[in-house]
Amino acid sequence: MRLDASQPQAIERAAAVLRAGGLVAFPTETVYGLGADASNPDAVARIFEAKGRPRAHPLIVHLADAAALDPWAARVPPLARRLAESLWPGPLTLVLPRHRRVPPAVTGGRDTVALRVPDHPVALALLRAFGGGIAAPSANRFGHVSPTTAAHVLADLGDAVDAVLDGGPCEVGVESTIVDMTGPTPRLLREGGVPVETVEAIAGCPVERRARPGEAPGTLRWHYAPRARLLAVAPGELAGAIAEASARHRRVAALWPAELGAPPAGLAAVVAFSLDPARAAERLYAALREADARGAQVIVAPLPPGDGLAAAVRDRLVRAAARREDE
Ligand code: TXA
Ligand code: MG
Repeated sequence: MRLDASQPQAIERAAAVLRAGGLVAFPTETVYGLGADASNPDAVARIFEAKGRPRAHPLIVHLADAAALDPWAARVPPLARRLAESLWPGPLTLVLPRHRRVPPAVTGGRDTVALRVPDHPVALALLRAFGGGIAAPSANRFGHVSPTTAAHVLADLGDAVDAVLDGGPCEVGVESTIVDMTGPTPRLLREGGVPVETVEAIAGCPVERRARPGEAPGTLRWHYAPRARLLAVAPGELAGAIAEASARHRRVAALWPAELGAPPAGLAAVVAFSLDPARAAERLYAALREADARGAQVIVAPLPPGDGLAAAVRDRLVRAAARREDE
């Protein structure tokens, strides 16, 4: 069932689906989430089935506001409280010690829980109408490109989801930044929508950049992958990589930034992209899906330079490109 989020009753109907233990896909500022009642283990189990996701990969619990933190975290260190109060609603996920009421199904059996308040009017309206925490991973098949429109969700999950709240395309376009607050110093588990430099400025201390292996299960080396083979290269190497791929494959697509002028001739698909970090993040997943839809065998994409969102885009492109090398 597709629900137009701007229609009266849509939010209430979606909240009723959640209360009945169903799955609701909903827009956030980052990507669409596949939501279930976080306090209902059977509903949460359905998320893993629908996505084909391993059960040990923990989910983020979405909350309506920072004041809703306490029932989910056993302890909220002052620094975590400060980050929550400054950056929520927003694309920041905090990993905190798990309150014992959080079902183990949500946390993959871990003693920590990931929490965030999304900055999207539809997500916030749903959270308020529902009145509890919503566990939600990105609403795509496991390992595939994340969804930034309701159409992406339906293409990936179809009938496996009970309702899709359509709130238009997501504005940030890459997932939240994840910071582990359970140790003596904050540690970055995933780059994302909030630049890590912003987190450091508010925390007043450095954020450790290197996560230990297995610390954020689900941030596998391959992830976010299109069907086609993906080559991610520096912008200066884009033309060369396209020429090389074209010598070996018939259908080569390029994510082509307008800043570089006209694309080379002979591409099977030229997909609009940008080297501007915010624009690149917003376009990334839709562009990869578009290249797939146009039958590309190989997709060549540039790695946008710079900090913040550019680093998150590079992280996703490098992971998406790693898949085929691992196979
Ligand atoms: O922007 C986002 O974060 C989106 C929207 C829907 O909110 N959600 C999202 O969820 O990206 P997902 O499941 O695709 O990625 C969540 C990541 C996974 O890599 C998972 O391992 C990590 O969060 N995570 C969740 N709970 C954790 C925990 N307790 N400790 C460490 N990592 C955790
Ligand atoms: Mg995901």
